[in-house]
Amino acid sequence: MRLGVNIDHVATVRQQRHAGYPDPVEAALLSLKAGADSIVAHLREDRRHVQDADIFRLKERVKRLNMEMAISPSVIRVALAAKPERVTLVPERRQELTTEGGLDVARGGARLRRAIGRFLDAGIRVSMFIGADERQVEASIRLGAIAVEFHTGGYADAPNFRLRLRELLRIARCSRFAADRGLEVAAGHGLNVSNVAAIVRIPEVEELNIGHSIVARAVAIGMPAAVREMKNRMRR
Ligand code: PXP
Repeated sequence: MRLGVNIDHVATVRQQRHAGYPDPVEAALLSLKAGADSIVAHLREDRRHVQDADIFRLKERVKRLNMEMAISPSVIRVALAAKPERVTLVPERRQELTTEGGLDVARGGARLRRAIGRFLDAGIRVSMFIGADERQVEASIRLGAIAVEFHTGGYADAPNFRLRLRELLRIARCSRFAADRGLEVAAGHGLNVSNVAAIVRIPEVEELNIGHSIVARAVAIGMPAAVREMKNRMRR
């Protein structure tokens, strides 16, 4: 199973001070060195974390770059200019803290169809970030997607075991449905070291895209080394 590391929240820390660090491209290269199979970066319409220049710099250094995006004109322009290996289309609301649900491909209409056509013409592969729902899978196929990514937030954030199991079974059922129809199947959102194991057991899921928990763990695991480094520099 492949791991795509989402580096958005490295950029979040940088944007907090508009400093030059931490650098999401450096984080991407370190992730690949540690075994990540691809890098995911979400260029949001409000540019709250990843910036246009990051996408171009990532594209120069990372072969398997998966750019997450909503179909907003300024973001589409960057994607068509940078040409990442793939784009994952997500819904986006300005007020949300993170991508709260899957894309409604079934109701996507002409705008979505046009945008996908432009990516396919540019040789960019298209994946859809959707809820585990057969109708959304079928609509994704109709629009030319080669992959779907199932939103695992409902599973990760389920308030009790029964609801978590229900979500897990839904994702497993739809993964089989999508793979049987020739789609690549990925999953992601809210996954961490405590909840990833059950998703890994779904045989059709080929890739997990994980961001927040990995960046958070990097802070925890990396804090002793960062403090030691500073103490060393402070020696008189
Ligand atoms: N996959 C997609 C399509 C997403 O939108 C996100 C969140 O940006 C992720 C994966 C990663 O989610 P998380 O940061 O919760 O691991």
